[in-house]
Amino acid sequence: MHIFYAGTIKLSYFLVAAFILQASCNNKRVHEMKEWEECQFASSCICKNVPGLDELKADCSDKNLPRIPRLQNNLQDLSLQNNDISTIEDGIFEGNYLLKFLDLSFNRISKIRKHSFKGLKNLLSLDLSANDLKYENMSFESSAFYFLKNLKILNMKKNFHTSFLPDLWRLRTLESLSMDYVSDKIAVLTENFIYLNHLRSLDLSGSTGNCTMNILSQETFLSLSQITHINLSKCKIQYIYKGTFKSMKNISELDVSFNTCLRFSALENITTDLQYTAIKILKVNYIHSTFEMNTMLKTSHIRNLRNTSLIRFEAAGNRIQRVEYGAAKYFPKSFESVNVRDNDFSFGKYLFDLVRLPITSLDISEISSSHNVLKSYVEACVPEEDTVTMNSENNLLSRLLSRFDFKNMNFDHNVPRLPVPRKLKNISLTSSKLKFEIPKLGFTTNELTNLNFSDNILHTWTGPLTNVNNLTVFDLSSNFCSNVSKIFFSEDFINLTYLLLQNNLLGLILPTDVDGEIFQNLQNVVHINLSKNRITNIPNLLFKKQHNLERLDLSENMIGGMNFKISHMRKLMFLNLQNNRISTLSKYAMNELDSIAEINTNLTIDLGGNNLVCNCDSLSFVKWVVNTPTNLHRREKYECKTSENTISLLQNPKEVYETIQKECMSYEGIIIGFTIGILMFIFILCAGIIYRYRWKLRYLYYMVKVKWHDHEYKSDKKDERQYMYDAFVSYANEDHTFVHNTLLHKLEKNGGVQLCLHRRNFLPGNDIATNITSAIHNSRKTIVIMSSNYLASYWCMFEYNMAKMESIYERNCENILFLVFYEQISACDLPLQILELVHCQSYIEYPNDEYGDVVFWEQLQRAIKSY
Ligand SMILES: *[C@@H]1O[C@H](CO)[C@@H](O)[C@H](O)[C@H]1NC(C)=O
Ligand SMILES: *[C@@H]1O[C@H](CO)[C@@H](O)[C@H](O)[C@H]1NC(C)=O
Ligand SMILES: *[C@@H]1O[C@H](CO)[C@@H](O)[C@H](O)[C@H]1NC(C)=O
Ligand SMILES: *[C@@H]1O[C@H](CO)[C@@H](O)[C@H](O)[C@H]1NC(C)=O
Ligand SMILES: *[C@@H]1O[C@H](CO)[C@@H](O)[C@H](O)[C@H]1NC(C)=O
Ligand SMILES: *[C@@H]1O[C@H](CO)[C@@H](O)[C@H](O)[C@H]1NC(C)=O
Ligand SMILES: *[C@@H]1O[C@H](CO)[C@@H](O)[C@H](O)[C@H]1NC(C)=O
Ligand SMILES: *[C@@H]1O[C@H](CO)[C@@H](O)[C@H](O)[C@H]1NC(C)=O
Ligand SMILES: *[C@@H]1O[C@H](CO)[C@@H](O)[C@H](O)[C@H]1NC(C)=O
Ligand SMILES: *[C@@H]1O[C@H](CO)[C@@H](O)[C@H](O)[C@H]1NC(C)=O
Ligand SMILES: *[C@@H]1O[C@H](CO)[C@@H](O)[C@H](O)[C@H]1NC(C)=O
Repeated sequence: MHIFYAGTIKLSYFLVAAFILQASCNNKRVHEMKEWEECQFASSCICKNVPGLDELKADCSDKNLPRIPRLQNNLQDLSLQNNDISTIEDGIFEGNYLLKFLDLSFNRISKIRKHSFKGLKNLLSLDLSANDLKYENMSFESSAFYFLKNLKILNMKKNFHTSFLPDLWRLRTLESLSMDYVSDKIAVLTENFIYLNHLRSLDLSGSTGNCTMNILSQETFLSLSQITHINLSKCKIQYIYKGTFKSMKNISELDVSFNTCLRFSALENITTDLQYTAIKILKVNYIHSTFEMNTMLKTSHIRNLRNTSLIRFEAAGNRIQRVEYGAAKYFPKSFESVNVRDNDFSFGKYLFDLVRLPITSLDISEISSSHNVLKSYVEACVPEEDTVTMNSENNLLSRLLSRFDFKNMNFDHNVPRLPVPRKLKNISLTSSKLKFEIPKLGFTTNELTNLNFSDNILHTWTGPLTNVNNLTVFDLSSNFCSNVSKIFFSEDFINLTYLLLQNNLLGLILPTDVDGEIFQNLQNVVHINLSKNRITNIPNLLFKKQHNLERLDLSENMIGGMNFKISHMRKLMFLNLQNNRISTLSKYAMNELDSIAEINTNLTIDLGGNNLVCNCDSLSFVKWVVNTPTNLHRREKYECKTSENTISLLQNPKEVYETIQKECMSYEGIIIGFTIGILMFIFILCAGIIYRYRWKLRYLYYMVKVKWHDHEYKSDKKDERQYMYDAFVSYANEDHTFVHNTLLHKLEKNGGVQLCLHRRNFLPGNDIATNITSAIHNSRKTIVIMSSNYLASYWCMFEYNMAKMESIYERNCENILFLVFYEQISACDLPLQILELVHCQSYIEYPNDEYGDVVFWEQLQRAIKSY
């Protein structure tokens, strides 16, 4: 029977499916909407397909629609939020048996009639919040919810301003109800709730609606014993009598936060009731008025929680200054997490009591914060005598951590130990205005994994911090810290993986750590955040031990160049250098990055927001951008400044590279050509000058040499100089017979003229050129025995030129040269320089006849002796 039945169901499904398929094909209505598109039934609405179904989601919110439009049948989800709808036409939803979610919030609906929701037999969730449904307007017909046979979630908040409760009793399937409740007497949710026997969650919170319940008593929830979640926050509750929650055996979550008149004395009534229930989460945040005196959490307030299975307890913003010693042991074994933010804890013995708490997570942030104005909400309360009053001078940690206190505590160890619950894993101590130097400090035996000290003023981290072997996440961000000692991160930080140091002033200390000692113990760290630290420079070895680093965030600093070692970080995945002052990467940096990228294809680097430069100097960088295996995060957004000061995008780096390369090439060519030209010019000029003054230069050279040899030679006045010889005879070797036989005889023997002949008077050992120069210099005249042999001899021409130079530079252009033409030489054969002398100065031709000879020698003698 059963099988047969299932079979027919399957068959009918098949038939229906086939029919729908055919219908849709016939109508050519196969129109898949993946994204939001205009709906067919109303142009002001947008529709979207529900994945995998032929059903639609329609969004008609914020359109000022005056009425509900004619709807398509295949809607599954319809939002008409925030329109101008005042009436629901009878039967308007008649075809919408597929509709599951209907949102009519923020309209002006004032009446729900019997046929308003006709057809919505599969509706699961209905939102009627923020409408005009009121008791005075007779808003609900008696069977208003008749057709909603499957409704599970109903929201009617922001409608009722009186204690009116509509007739909900036909909503037998309802599981979650949100509504207003207004009562200035003892609140009682009517016995009709007993019919809603699937109701599990009741939200009466005044934060999202209108809730006033002055007094809660045993009768209030009598008909709601099956409830598991109840939200009574911000309900202006003044009293909660004992027995209020006693009947709710299955309650697991209770929120009575923001009922500031309750105080902890009501907590005692609540916990008394809860001892017999399944409570797991209890929220009593802000049940003390912001402007009251400080309080103490007493044993009596929580004693009855001992036998429950409470997991989480929230008591934020209650001005708790201390916890009664011994109270901690009344928290149950199941206890896991505590949120006591925004209280005023101060130092006390109870801290050592807390070590016994079995919690794993503790949030004590915002100690002594000036209570947030948003959170402070003032109610007129009945005055109470019972308030524990204390001064709030002493801040918990400032005092606890001051060395003075530690000395008084008689610790066994040298290192002061901070008491920590044994199983505690997470501590949040953020935004607590803690202002001190972190001293040498340890924790009692612990399993701490997450430590969050962010947003305080822990300006100096001296340490060492010890006994933190299990710590994996350490957040010290936003602490104005400018000084970390090299021992702060002790060897106990072995398991640290996340280190969050952003938004400090570490740029003042990190650049001095050239040996990389600050982070040397953090060998397993995977993620370091150092952004917003005003760092200008990272020393090469700062991260030398971070072999396991995967993410390094150095964004929003003032780093000018990347010169630190990273090639050992084989697992590096993301290096964030965004918004720094990098213009180009050095060769070193590019090599470092590439050496990782070759083995780890995941390496990504972000250089966005830097002042990158694309000119000839950074040509190798641009080339690297083209070729590197490193991924450049959002490279297409990088901007770089070119040589013409224009900004170009690195969207297509190859193109940029080619442009700069071309520019730089031509530039280079010009420079090379220009340099060569100048060098050539200088060379030619020098050569010209040297040629032009070749004799002078040679003369000077040899003169220097001569003077260097003749130390005794010191005469400074040429006129009064005593010459060693009267005349130096310059002659060709071929003419030596004439010189040695005739000339020597006639002049020296007969005429008494002292001659210098190279064969006779030159010093052996000196080089010939020096000898010549010296001889010319030391002789009053130079007699040139001119012949064709003379003109052909190199050394003779050398002597001739040297003598000329001597006459010009040493003897004030006095004529010391004396030409004797031993042979007839035609003017054509004489070189220009000799011809010139012949023309303007005297010369003698050797006559070679007896009479002429006498005259010749006399003339010659006279010429030599004349001065
Ligand atoms: C009753 O509903 C009408 C709109 O239908 C509205 O104008 C009027 O203010 C409502 N009366 C009350 C008492 O809320
Ligand atoms: C809540 O109800 C009271 C009347 O009981 C009314 O004065 C007040 O305006 C309502 N508050 C809201 C937010 O609707
Ligand atoms: C509480 O829950 C249990 C099982 O979930 C159920 O058997 C019991 O009836 C519930 N109690 C009430 C009062 O609803
Ligand atoms: C109770 O309602 C308020 C306002 O919507 C919300 O902030 C709070 O989280 C709710 N509490 C619980 C336990 O859901
Ligand atoms: C606690 O319960 C007792 C007895 O029901 C009641 O007298 C007292 O007012 C309650 N306290 C508070 C703060 O509601
Ligand atoms: C908790 O239960 C134990 C027995 O299981 C009982 O002795 C003790 O009194 C109970 N504590 C409280 C506070 O009810
Ligand atoms: C501790 O905090 C981390 C992250 O903030 C979270 O993932 C983890 O679940 C928390 N652990 C406990 C025991 O609360
Ligand atoms: C770290 O946790 C383990 C257990 O997870 C524990 O045995 C060890 O003592 C803890 N380390 C420290 C320093 O407390
Ligand atoms: C530390 O606390 C701050 C403030 O509550 C929070 O923003 C930050 O994410 C927390 N850090 C971690 C690592 O959870
Ligand atoms: C912490 O590190 C130690 C030593 O390296 C290791 O034995 C231990 O398992 C680690 N604990 C955690 C929680 O990672
Ligand atoms: C790269 O990243 C992927 C996923 O993020 C990971 O599976 C892979 O192992 C990584 N490769 C390397 C070499 O780290």
